[in-house]
Amino acid sequence: MWIKTHSVQEVFDKAEELLDKEVTLSGWVYHKREHGNLIFIDLRDGTGVIQISIHKDKVDDKVFEKTEEVTRESSIIVKGIVKRDPRAPGGYEISLKDLEIVGLAEEWPIPLNASTSLLFDMRHLHLRSERQRAILLVRESVFEAAQEYFKKNGWVEVHPPIFITAACEGGATLFEVKYFDRKAYLTQSSQLYLEALIYVLEKVYCIAPSFRAEKSRTRRHLTEFWHIEAEAAWMELEEIMKVEEELVSYICQKVAKERSKELEFLGRDPKDIKKVKPPFERISYDEAIERLQKKGLDIKWGEDFGAVEERKLAEDFDKPFFIYKYPKEVKAFYHMPDPERPEVVLCNDMIAPEGYGEIIGGGQRIHDKELLLKRIVEDGYDPKDYGWYIDLRRYGTVPHSGFGLGADRVVSWICKLSHIREAVPFPRTYSRLYP
Ligand code: 4AD
Ligand code: MG
Repeated sequence: MWIKTHSVQEVFDKAEELLDKEVTLSGWVYHKREHGNLIFIDLRDGTGVIQISIHKDKVDDKVFEKTEEVTRESSIIVKGIVKRDPRAPGGYEISLKDLEIVGLAEEWPIPLNASTSLLFDMRHLHLRSERQRAILLVRESVFEAAQEYFKKNGWVEVHPPIFITAACEGGATLFEVKYFDRKAYLTQSSQLYLEALIYVLEKVYCIAPSFRAEKSRTRRHLTEFWHIEAEAAWMELEEIMKVEEELVSYICQKVAKERSKELEFLGRDPKDIKKVKPPFERISYDEAIERLQKKGLDIKWGEDFGAVEERKLAEDFDKPFFIYKYPKEVKAFYHMPDPERPEVVLCNDMIAPEGYGEIIGGGQRIHDKELLLKRIVEDGYDPKDYGWYIDLRRYGTVPHSGFGLGADRVVSWICKLSHIREAVPFPRTYSRLYP
């Protein structure tokens, strides 16, 4: 087998230097167009797509026959000469001299007019499209940016467990698994474990999957999603909101800068993302209710917001915004009640613009042991299940706050996707577990 000399991207980067020289590339047949004595192959590798032209009168008959035989998505190695061609995508092409077929592909099973359900049944193959590649690259940058933000600002990465024994976000969406002769659950959020780790490292974060047995079929719920979570000792609500807006802005700036080509390909103007800079507007839950009532929604104080309410509120903003201090009843037990108004808690949700909904949930935690016990019981849980978590309030408790960012929702918003399932390589939803 021939060894490649360059990647597609390297050929484009060094094209002038490589002009009229021979290169060897390896990859897959993305498209093939036949015009009698002239065949074009778009060769795709991990870095991009380049046009290969095959002229019957410039190659051996055997080589031409091989290019006739080659099918879509076959793996091939090509030798050829780099040429300038203004008609070729990227302005350069390879004029073929020789070709080796490594894996001749069977007929491609995804027709042009494939239904969404077929595309996702064939996800293992469908991922090879340019659109999916662009999404994967933006996704990579989102994760890289988050890491970078935390590193630059003194946060330490930690690795909490996936198997857990008690709910963080309500029993209804816990996935139960058999753990030898006991019962365990898959984590819904690493928050409670991050709370233990702040007593060691003060500012910690983790990037890990969270699991929710969500039966709702919506455009923004997965059963397995990637969660970017942070927790800090000595921080109160206001301070954690600042961290949240800085993080989201950092992600947006990096993606707009480094992935503008991919964003444009996906139909997202990088300017929409570049303008996401702090401060984000903050409205209280009370104000949100007023706004919704003015907009004609039949909603009363005390009710939670869903996709409809979040989309309505987002009409007034062109970048993410915060809703803070929700009623205690609609939030999990660990949220700190407002000392001045115990019917609301010191929490915040960050809502993305354009109807993408909640991308962050966060807030200040209860650090008083008795208050925590009271809230655990009020919410119908057994304090025995939270022994170690309550212990944290016994040994040097401090005020602390944290948040969780739904990475797939952020990718979905930044890439302007119509459904979250496209933001993940292999989505897991109520109805999908394959491939
Ligand atoms: O608002 P949530 O449920 O908050 C928590 O889990 C906190 N314990 C996080 C923390 O403070 N450390 O989830 C946080 C975020 C949501 O804002 C949303 O973006 C995302 O996680 N999320 C989901 N994303 C995709 N599919 C789902 N089923 C999701 N559920 C939550
Ligand atoms: Mg939430």
